[in-house]
Amino acid sequence: MINLILFGPPGSGKGTQAERLVDQYNLVHISTGDLFRYEMGNNTPLGIQAKSFIARGELVPDEITIGMLRNKVEAHPDANGFIFDGFPRTIRQAEALDHLMNEEGTSIHALIALQVDDDEIIQRIKLRGATSGRSDDSDEGIIRNRLDVYKKETTPVFDYYAGQGKSHLVEGTGSIDAIFDRLCAAINALHAGL
Ligand code: C5P
Ligand code: MG
Repeated sequence: MINLILFGPPGSGKGTQAERLVDQYNLVHISTGDLFRYEMGNNTPLGIQAKSFIARGELVPDEITIGMLRNKVEAHPDANGFIFDGFPRTIRQAEALDHLMNEEGTSIHALIALQVDDDEIIQRIKLRGATSGRSDDSDEGIIRNRLDVYKKETTPVFDYYAGQGKSHLVEGTGSIDAIFDRLCAAINALHAGL
């Protein structure tokens, strides 16, 4: 099994790259942002709970997000491995994920962070907002809030896994193909060491 965290700020290309990586390595892709959007689209109790946080560009409380993530992992008992995209976003979520992986008899093998600077992030998200229909992609104030939340609450997750010797940086600018090749090189190097 290989379990990866695809890490990086909003708009760094996690979703785009995860879609390709699942085919390449036969993994299950879990995007907590996509899960929330699905729940909101269906007006479920979970979606209704999450909505106001997401609209402001804030994090949904840990217990809600962790519970949703746990259900999704447990729905795939035969998975060859997972790519976690947009999760964990806090140290508490990281600790819960390690605990869950441990219960499943496995662990997180690596966190791979896509590096993209703020100006490019804002450009990319605004561009995505023109077609995504996501209100949190369309307002520069909300986008900047998401970046601030990322810096304050989420970057410590990089250090948390660095402490376990598991964090890796990959340059996240250039063509989608070039970034994919860099990610595969990082994963293959890791695979060889497992
Ligand atoms: O991952 P993505 O950028 O698609 O997430 C969109 C929004 O969903 C975030 O800005 C945040 O409000 C919420 N979210 C969260 N906790 C997560 C993942 C997403 O609160 N672990
Ligand atoms: Mg995404």
